[in-house]
Amino acid sequence: MSASAAQHAPGLARAGGIAARARGLTKAYGSGETAVLALDSVDVDIVRGRFTAVMGPSGSGKSTLMHCLAGLDTVSAGRVWLGDTEITGLRERELTRLRRDRIGFMFQSFNLVPTLNALENITLPMDIAGRKPDGEWLDQVIDALGLRDRLAHRPSQLSGGQQQRVACARALTSRPELIFADEPTGNLDSRTGLEVLGFLRQAVDALGQTVVMVTHDPGAAAHSDLVLFLADGRIVDEMARPTAKAVLERMKRFDVIRGPSGEGRDPAAGGG
Ligand SMILES: Nc1ncnc2c1ncn2[C@@H]1O[C@H](COP(=O)(O)OP(=O)(O)O)[C@@H](O)[C@H]1O
Ligand SMILES: [Mg+2]
Repeated sequence: MSASAAQHAPGLARAGGIAARARGLTKAYGSGETAVLALDSVDVDIVRGRFTAVMGPSGSGKSTLMHCLAGLDTVSAGRVWLGDTEITGLRERELTRLRRDRIGFMFQSFNLVPTLNALENITLPMDIAGRKPDGEWLDQVIDALGLRDRLAHRPSQLSGGQQQRVACARALTSRPELIFADEPTGNLDSRTGLEVLGFLRQAVDALGQTVVMVTHDPGAAAHSDLVLFLADGRIVDEMARPTAKAVLERMKRFDVIRGPSGEGRDPAAGGG
């Protein structure tokens, strides 16, 4: 690629390389007859500077995969790396620091602190870490998310979409290596959801961030660069440059395969 092409696509300058990696990632809940194999020997590479979506029927292991990649949950077998750091085997204290310093999170319920205003919520993780946000970057994030005139508002004074934009700014402020978003549009109406997806897309394209988003919505997945399809704890397919229509068609095939056995779950029924 020519230097000028890279200049016109700042996200590409940082693209390539692996932000997170799993090999043989296995997670079982419970034991004996009631054991549930939530992840069954998953191998995955999350490419830096890209927007990756994780889709699959409810109960297919999407949230578990995200939690294990983010060091929020222990694994039963296999290995997980964040960048060059193997996180499997780290002690809880080291994991806490790694999550705090290197990962940003967005959840379906925005997880804002009700007594803090928007700006205080945005800088909270860095305040806790005793780090000072890069002022220029913080300004860029606040303006990109259109939050400039909402900074003094508390969450209860903000709409759902604005609250999720605050959560998005909070995830971006420390310039984490990786942002994990679990159903970030799950509680938003479709217009506001689109807005938040646009900001995540912009975070990747304009700010060079790496985003992994769990969703059950084909329209949301269509904003990503690559969709990983999970079924029964395994990655069964992937789709580059997805469209909502193609993703929906792919999701329907889970029903066709699983439906007659009576085990089929409605992919539109939402994540668990
Ligand atoms: N804490 C838990 N204890 C027991 N089983 C769990 C727990 N969390 C998830 N599971 C089970 O693991 C499987 C995958 O769950 P999850 O990752 O939440 O799926 P998804 O996010 O795709 O809906 C499901 O069968 C679920 O019931
Ligand atoms: Mg889930």
